[in-house]
Amino acid sequence: KNTITVGLLGLGTVGSGVIEILHDHKERIQHRTGCEVTIKSVLVNNVEKPRELPDDSTNLTDRYEDITRDPEIDVVVEVMGGIDHTLTILLEAIQHGKHVVTANKDLIAQHGAELFAACQESGSDLYYEASVAAGVPIIRSIMDGLSSDRITKMMGIVNGTTNYIMTKMSQDGADFDSILKEAQDLGFAEADPTADVDGLDAARKMTILSILGFSMPFNLEDVEVKGIRGLSLSDIQYAEELGYRIKLIGIAENDVNGVSVSVEPTFLPATHPLSSVNDEFNAVYVYGDAVGETMFYGPGAGKLPTATAVVSDLIAVLKNIRLGTTGTAYVQPQFPKQVMPKDQ
Ligand code: HSE
Repeated sequence: KNTITVGLLGLGTVGSGVIEILHDHKERIQHRTGCEVTIKSVLVNNVEKPRELPDDSTNLTDRYEDITRDPEIDVVVEVMGGIDHTLTILLEAIQHGKHVVTANKDLIAQHGAELFAACQESGSDLYYEASVAAGVPIIRSIMDGLSSDRITKMMGIVNGTTNYIMTKMSQDGADFDSILKEAQDLGFAEADPTADVDGLDAARKMTILSILGFSMPFNLEDVEVKGIRGLSLSDIQYAEELGYRIKLIGIAENDVNGVSVSVEPTFLPATHPLSSVNDEFNAVYVYGDAVGETMFYGPGAGKLPTATAVVSDLIAVLKNIRLGTTGTAYVQPQFPKQVMPKDQ
């Protein structure tokens, strides 16, 4: 098969980034994979809204069945966000034999088990690199690069919006609400930014990292979460006077007491490597028995970094299709069967 046909769910910040990367890197992708990628249909809320798409043959639709049931579509790329309705759409796509690439951490953290079970039944791939730390290939690094090791601890800054807010408060003394608005305008924040501010977005990402890194089921509801809402400019300035920085840190540990995961604003010495992770950047420390300390760093939010991860996943699926295999066939992450979302 020399052409892979994609149905794109969502044309917001990340969706338009996916289209841009597929267009700008078309030849490179074709050269690397021997395959052409065509976006046949895009699911949008309003088909009347004027949009500029590089390929005139791309259809806009507001009916998801046009994508999930289209026999020509090989891969569904989900960048629309949302949980229950999106789960229904993706399960339908998988039942129709489509492979799935998603950036949706809410969905993976809460419904990973259902999605993987459906994929196993239909022989579909499910890739979700963009769900944690956007442009930082942390999921692949844990699943592939460190797969020979026993990971005991992961610690990091995994939410770009809150890191951006805290950086700007510290550097410019700006107020919380105006910087949050800036982070939204830059496309970093979630549609409902309370998920960022209250730590739930970071909790979802740490849940995914724990499940993958420790190869054990872990429930989102067991994360101890505290966001940055109560943080004032004077807290940040006071910490700095004492030689510290305050960062929203996720910590996941697997020791004799089992797995524990927390997300909370934390004092770090100014000399700590995580203290210099600024703006929307993310960083994750991973400690392995054999490898020791590793650190992964890069842009954790935003259009093109997130779209880079999504398109790289698409290329992984494409390679699997060409090899006649599925990536999910041999790696089954231990997503817990029932996860109760903490915010509902
Ligand atoms: N709202 C998320 C963040 C986007 O700020 O990190 C990337 O997952």
